[in-house]
Amino acid sequence: MLKRISGPIEQAPPEGSLYARSDDPGRDDAYFEEWRTRELSRIDHARLTYLDFTGAALYPASLVREDAERLALRVLGNPHSENAPSRDASADLEDARAAILEFVHASPDDYVAIITANATAAARLVAESFPFEAGSVLALAADNHNSVNGIREYARARGAELCTIALDAKLRLHDPIPVLETRARLPSLFSYPAQSNFSGVRHPLALIAEAQERGWRVLLDAAAFVPTADLDLSRTPADFVTLSLYKITGYPSGIGALIARRDALTELRRPWFSGGTVEWVSVQHGRHRLSAGAGAFEDGTVPFLALGGVRPALSMIRTVGRERLARHLRGLTSRLLRGLTELRHANGRSVVRIHGPTDLADRGATVAFTMYDAAGVVVPYWDVESGARESRIAVRGGCFCNPGCAESAFAFAERQTMHCFDQLGVGFTIPRFAECLGGRAVGAIRSSLGLGSVRRDVERLVEFVGRYRAAA
Ligand SMILES: Cc1ncc(COP(=O)(O)O)c(C=O)c1O
Repeated sequence: MLKRISGPIEQAPPEGSLYARSDDPGRDDAYFEEWRTRELSRIDHARLTYLDFTGAALYPASLVREDAERLALRVLGNPHSENAPSRDASADLEDARAAILEFVHASPDDYVAIITANATAAARLVAESFPFEAGSVLALAADNHNSVNGIREYARARGAELCTIALDAKLRLHDPIPVLETRARLPSLFSYPAQSNFSGVRHPLALIAEAQERGWRVLLDAAAFVPTADLDLSRTPADFVTLSLYKITGYPSGIGALIARRDALTELRRPWFSGGTVEWVSVQHGRHRLSAGAGAFEDGTVPFLALGGVRPALSMIRTVGRERLARHLRGLTSRLLRGLTELRHANGRSVVRIHGPTDLADRGATVAFTMYDAAGVVVPYWDVESGARESRIAVRGGCFCNPGCAESAFAFAERQTMHCFDQLGVGFTIPRFAECLGGRAVGAIRSSLGLGSVRRDVERLVEFVGRYRAAA
């Protein structure tokens, strides 16, 4: 029987015992404390500890204030018209596209930025337009988000072969080159995340060139990477890149992008047309001509009121300084990993198992873990999640829309999971699934740091997890 442990509530570890070590500079703490007070004091007023930045970044107060001032002064219309307010909105659209390209160091000579609703919509544009045919191959990392996994349904429907690049015990891609060597002559696509939204692992960007040299087009899912790392497409020129703006600075939401190499974009075949994507349509003749470039992929009316907020949002990362942010988050991630891994029950057993790397090499500031009681029995993630909610700590529980990574992290045996899916049928629930699998972990707790995270957020989480320690 799975049960939650109600161990003694312990105090936060004193400074200097659990945390202070020489590899832990903490040199940016004062800067980010001040930034937090200026931009995100509402978290502290709400007595929240926010550790779900991979879910969404939190919008800085000044961005929203300045955007409200911008909107109060401007008259913006539907960009499909040609009047002055429409032209102003079109200028915002062009500027948003340009700011996104600059953000990832993509030259407008080589790339276009297509405005979408989010990263998912960007992946779908590629999925539905990629020229898959019988003999094509779709190679997917086992660490993909479902918004990328879903591409397989389009590929399958057109007769493409599917293959998966497995993960090793540390949740890194296991030997992808042999799979990339099997490149078909026909249009084939390889897709992987620059950073795992589950484990925080950063997969090698060098794979882009490795795959391209073997004839693949590469879709890099950068949604979880770009909020805290610099993506330089002039050095790692992926064919397609997907991202969501709200994950970077929390604002504006409702805007994502498909960043596409111009040569790769010409290979895509849109399965339909819509308002906004065409030069002309004839009902009489049943013919149409798509617009050139990005316009052919932006269905309907873009979120024209929000587009003017894109450049300031991305500039904010530059103002803070990408290096400073990365250094700060490395320090916090180090504290978190150490704090969690050092927690022990009185009998010496670990309270926490980290999924993925326990060091800082090639990883971001996302840490997923499972908790165990003193007897080594899994504490269900939903119990930990609800305990965290009661303690006003915002983490996420489950598999984070990344089932492939979950299957590796929890070492699911294919035959056993198949049996459980069949047995549970429409009665499937996560607790029943866990029971069917003999009480093993079926989901994790994910803590993710970002712009606005400070040391005490990490300390609160470690203190909370420490409450699950059994005294004897
Ligand atoms: C790595 C990754 N890819 C794609 C997505 C999908 O993003 P959205 O829901 O904004 O489309 C997410 C969202 O968490 C993600 O983390």
